[in-house]
Amino acid sequence: QFAPRVFSGIQPSGGLTLGNYLGAIKRFVGMQDEGGFETVYCMVDLHAITARLLDPSELSHNTRELAAGFIASGIDPAKSILINQSQVPEHAQLAWIFNCVARMGWMSRMTQWKDKSGKNAEAASLGLFAYPALMAADILIYHATHVPVGEDQKQHLELTRDIAAKFNHDYGVEFFPITEPVIEGAATRVMSLRDGSKKMSKSDPSDASRINMTDDADAIAKKIRKAKTDPDALPSEAKGLEDRPEARNLVNIYAGLADMSVDQVLADHGGAQFGQFKPALAELAVEKLAPISSEMARLMDDTAEIDRILAHGAEQARAITAPILARTYEIIGM
Ligand code: ADP
Ligand code: NA
Repeated sequence: QFAPRVFSGIQPSGGLTLGNYLGAIKRFVGMQDEGGFETVYCMVDLHAITARLLDPSELSHNTRELAAGFIASGIDPAKSILINQSQVPEHAQLAWIFNCVARMGWMSRMTQWKDKSGKNAEAASLGLFAYPALMAADILIYHATHVPVGEDQKQHLELTRDIAAKFNHDYGVEFFPITEPVIEGAATRVMSLRDGSKKMSKSDPSDASRINMTDDADAIAKKIRKAKTDPDALPSEAKGLEDRPEARNLVNIYAGLADMSVDQVLADHGGAQFGQFKPALAELAVEKLAPISSEMARLMDDTAEIDRILAHGAEQARAITAPILARTYEIIGM
C-alpha cells in the first residue's frame, strides 16, 4: 500500500561526529544506492533549537555544513531529496496535529527527554518535550516506510509508530504507515573515546575526545591514540568484549569504518595490544574520513550552491508533503 520511502534527519546543533557518520549517514548512503527506495534526508533545524536557542549565524553555518557533510559522504542530490526542515512547513504543521494525538504520559516516558531535561525539567523548553512528536511528523509527512537511525533513536521510532496507529485508529483510516526502524551495522551506538559509558554526541560541547567530520588527519590520529582503553590484548571473539566498553567501542568503530563484522575484525586483530591496534584504527579512520573532511571544506567555499540544492530539495519535498497534509486536514474535518 505504501511505496518504499526512506526518511531520516540530523540536527544542525553542532558539527557532525563519527557517531553520526557510522550510525546514520553511512546507512543513508547505502539505502540511496541500493535502489528500491525513494530517499529523503533532512537537516532538522527546528529540532536544533530545542535544547538551547543557538546564535543565528551558528545555526545557519551548522545547517550548511551539515548539508556539505551529507553530500561529501555520498548523498547525491540527484538521487535523494535533500532538505532543511524549516523550508518545508508541512513538518511543523503536522507536528501540531501530532501534539494533539500523542499523550503526555507517552512523552514523559522518553528517555532522551529525561536525560536532556535532567534535574531541572521546569527550565527545559516545551519544544524539547514535544521533540518526538515533531520527529514523528518529519517521518509521517512523507508516509516514510523505513527510517535508518542509530540505536539512541529506537524509542522515538516506537513513539512514531504509536502516533500513526492512534491517528489511524481514532479516525478509522489506514492513512499513516507503521514505519520500520533500520538500525544496522556494528556501530549503531558509538561511545565517547574518553568515557565508554557515554554516547559520542555533537550536542556535548565539553567532550574534546569527540571525532568530528571536519577533523584533519592529524587530529583524527591523535584522538584515537589518546582514546581510553584497558591494559589487555584484544580477544579473538566478540564475547571477550562484553565487560570491556572502551575496547568494544574501538572494535565497533573499526568494523563500522571497514564494513566488517566485529568477529571479522577480531579474527584479524585478536591478540593485538592497543599499542598495535590503535595505529591500525587511526590509519583506517584517516583513510575513510580525511577525504570527506576535505570535500566538506571544498563545498563550504560555495555556500550559494548549497543553498540552491536545499531550495530545490524543498520544492521536491513539498510536492509530497503538501498533498499528505491536505488529506490529513480533510480526515480531521479541517
Ligand atoms: P547527536 O546526538 O550527535 O546530536 P542527532 O540527535 O542529530 O545526533 O542524531 C542524528 C543521527 O545520528 C541519529 O540517527 C542518531 O541515532 C545518530 N547518532 C547520533 N549519535 C550517535 C552515536 N554516538 N552512534 C551512532 N549513531 C549516532
Ligand atoms: Na540524538
